[in-house]
Amino acid sequence: MSDILLKTLTEETRTVEPKKDEQQKAIAVLTSGGDAPGMNAAVRAVVRTGINKGMRVFGVYRGYNGLLNGDIEEMNLRSVSEIIGNGGTMLYTARSEEFKKKEAQLRAAEFCRSKGICGVVVIGGDGSFQGARALTNAGINCIGVPGTIDNDIACSEYTVGFDTAMNTALEMVDRIRDTAQSHDRCSIVEVMGRQCGDIALQTGIATGATAILVPEVEYSLERDVIPRIIKTQKTGKKHFIIVVAEGVGKKNRVEDIANFIEQRLGIEARATILGHVQRGGSPTLRDRVVASQMGYHAVDLLDRGIGNRVVVMRDGKITDLDITEALNMERVFDKELYKIAMTISI
Ligand code: ADP
Ligand code: F6P
Repeated sequence: MSDILLKTLTEETRTVEPKKDEQQKAIAVLTSGGDAPGMNAAVRAVVRTGINKGMRVFGVYRGYNGLLNGDIEEMNLRSVSEIIGNGGTMLYTARSEEFKKKEAQLRAAEFCRSKGICGVVVIGGDGSFQGARALTNAGINCIGVPGTIDNDIACSEYTVGFDTAMNTALEMVDRIRDTAQSHDRCSIVEVMGRQCGDIALQTGIATGATAILVPEVEYSLERDVIPRIIKTQKTGKKHFIIVVAEGVGKKNRVEDIANFIEQRLGIEARATILGHVQRGGSPTLRDRVVASQMGYHAVDLLDRGIGNRVVVMRDGKITDLDITEALNMERVFDKELYKIAMTISI
C-alpha cells in the first residue's frame, strides 16, 4: 500500500476526542431493570457514537438511581474498551421505586441540567421506558433502547439479550436431554420470560420438546400434554422434554407438573428451573450487532434534538417510535411457530 493511501486511510478512520467546552452537547446513558447480555455493547455504541459526533457522554450508574444520587462519570473512547463481549452491564442496573415519583423525576431532570446533559439513552424494558417518558416530560430528551432477555416489548420484534438467553437455554436443555434419555425420564424445564412465552417457544422448538407451555396459549395437562406423551410412547420414544414458560410455571409449578406426569403415566419425571443462568454470559453475535445498531440510532436521534422515542426493530430494520405509542402496543405471539412446534415435535 502506498504511503499516500495509508495516510488518507489513517486520517479518515482515526477518531479524535474533541476538547470540552461550554457549547459541547452532553448526553448520558444508563441501564435499568433486569440486566441482559448485550447491554454493554449498547453502552459502548452510545459512548462511541456520541463522542464521534462531538458530544460529551456520561455513564450513569445503577439505573435511574444514578441520576438521583449524582452517581455519574464522564466516559471516553477507552472507557468502553473490551466490554462488547461481556455479559451483565458495566454501568450496573437497578430498579428504582423512588424514581416513579414525580418529585424524583423533576430532581433527576434538574441534576441533568446542572451537568449540561440534554439527553439520556435508557437501555431497559418497558418499565424503564415509562421512566424515560417521565424524564422527557420533565425536560430531558430520552430515547429508550429495548434491553431484556424476555423479548416482551410489543413495539419491537427483538430485544437485546433475547438471542443469548435462548441459546443458553438451548444448551442447558440439550444437557438435560442427555440425562433424561439415559434414564428414560420426562424432564420438565422452566425458562424465563415473565408473561412472554418467546424464550420457551424458541427453546422448545429447537430442542424438540414434546410439549411447550406458554402463557399465550391456554392449556390443560390432561388434554394437551398426556396424550402427546402417550402418542409418542407408541412410536417407541421413551424420554420426553416439556418446556414451560415462567408465566405458566408461576401458577403451575414445574414440580407439580412432574408429579402429575409420574402419577398419571408411571414414568419418572424431574423438574428443573433454569433461572438466572439465562441472564448471564457473553452476548451472541446477534445481540452484539443489534445492540450496536440500536445504540447508534439512539444517539443519532438525540443529536437531532429528538426525544421521547424508543428504538425498535420492525421488519428486521432499526427504526423508532413515540414512547407512548410504543407502550400502548399489544404483543403478538407467533401462533404459526407454535403450530409448527406442535406438529413436528412428536
Ligand atoms: P423493565 O425496564 O425491565 O421493564 P421495571 O419494570 O422493573 O423493569 O422498571 C425499571 C425501572 O424503571 C423501575 O425500577 C423504575 O425506576 C422505572 N420505572 C418503571 N415504571 C415507571 C413509571 N411508571 N414511572 C417512572 N419510572 C418508572
Ligand atoms: O426481565 C428479565 C427477567 O429475568 C425475567 O425473565 C424474570 O422474571 C425476572 O427478570 C427476574 O428478576 P430478578 O432478577 O429481579 O429476580
